Amino acid sequence: MVSESHQQTNAKLVIGDQTIDLKVLIDAFGRPAVDIRNLFASTGIMTFDPGYTSTASCQSTITYIDGSKGILLYRGYPIEQLAARGSYLETAYLLLHGELPTAAQLAQFQADTVSRMPVHEQMIEILRRYKRDTHPMVLIESLVTALGAFDTDCDVSTTVGRTRVAVNLIAKIPTITALALRYIQGRPFVYPREDLGYTENFLRMCFASSDGAAYAVNPVVAGALDRIFILHADHEQNASTSTVRLAGSTGVEPYAAISAGIVALWGPAHGGANEAVLAMLQRIGSRDAIGTFLEQVKDKGSNERLMGFGHRVYKNYDPRAKIIREDSEKVLAGLAVQSPHLEVARELERIALEDPYFISRQLYPNVDFYSGITLTAMGFPTQMFTPLFALARTSGWIAQWKEMVDGGPLTIGRPRQHYVGSTARDYQPVGERG
Ligand code: CMC
Repeated sequence: MVSESHQQTNAKLVIGDQTIDLKVLIDAFGRPAVDIRNLFASTGIMTFDPGYTSTASCQSTITYIDGSKGILLYRGYPIEQLAARGSYLETAYLLLHGELPTAAQLAQFQADTVSRMPVHEQMIEILRRYKRDTHPMVLIESLVTALGAFDTDCDVSTTVGRTRVAVNLIAKIPTITALALRYIQGRPFVYPREDLGYTENFLRMCFASSDGAAYAVNPVVAGALDRIFILHADHEQNASTSTVRLAGSTGVEPYAAISAGIVALWGPAHGGANEAVLAMLQRIGSRDAIGTFLEQVKDKGSNERLMGFGHRVYKNYDPRAKIIREDSEKVLAGLAVQSPHLEVARELERIALEDPYFISRQLYPNVDFYSGITLTAMGFPTQMFTPLFALARTSGWIAQWKEMVDGGPLTIGRPRQHYVGSTARDYQPVGERG
């Protein structure tokens, strides 16, 4: 449960001849936040912050980002250390429970998760109602909502019950994602196996042949994919996580709240950027075309953006992008795959990082810039990039939902607005209007 801040101090807000005393909360790293919770009720004054660029919507103990230094911590642990030495399931446990598991706890968590991977056969019937060319984000969003209907033991009134739902979601999202992949490809489904690990199971469900032939998991691929999952597991109060919290604040059941997060993730400004990056690299085609493309990006009339660059919080190199960039080279070498896109991406990055347009706006590669290249080399079609992001982010979403619900009575999320429309006026029947 989240407790109030470590320290507090005070601030004065002066509006005209009115002076208002406000509390200032200091976070774990010494960053201040003016506490305006009672401002409207006591003074009638609102704050205006579209895009929430200066607004902390909650207190959390899960993830910390220092965007100017390029730091990302899960429960205090640097992302570089978790990616180099940890596993995704260990990371999911850490996000959910607040501490790294012991060997026995991890073994139990793995057994609980893998045993819950199968989904009800009727879920597959739901999938079959969709057209084969439906975007897999629609399929997984729909199946995650449906999971709630099949979880007849769902009781979120206790911490134990909420943890159970979290494990159920973390367990079933790889199965749902693999089902979506095989459905859009028109291939028979492959079911999970209890003797395999989490990421190995997912790879097998995606790529094994359905005739029962042995499928050998490539350790380079499994390791790199597990790392991609770690890097995407949580990212504090981004658009999709905020959506999960906002939907969850109404008291809706968690499957529906996560489903809302999946929808919010899909947009190209957020998790959909990985798909958009690959489309962009394909459009650019070769190193020779980079200059012309970047001129279009810098032309404000063109609406073109350098996808996979820029971030609301990072004003430095995204630490996740560094790891994914290194991994993309290792995976391609390990699989002996040549990617024309990797060469274009590297050159695009080099030129952009020397260009005053990107330097002055502090635009650096983000997590989505290199991930698609690695996922393509692994054999995933472009449409699956954002579903893979959703798969990994499910642990973060449900940990954030649980933190909010564990924290006590829910306060419904309900922003105010700065109204700039007509003031009150009289209705006139249609025949009397001029
Ligand atoms: N290409 C070109 N110009 C850009 C880009 C970009 N990718 N990103 C920002 N800018 C410019 C923008 O035009 C603006 O310029 P000016 O000050 O002249 O108007 C300035 O930089 C500030 O941009 P902003 O849109 O106000 O910044 P934001 O914090 O609202 O947006 C962002 C953040 C991620 C939506 C944006 O950088 C973007 O659209 N990037 C491309 C999409 C992308 O890669 N998204 C994935 C984000 S990481 C994965 C995740 O967690 O979601």
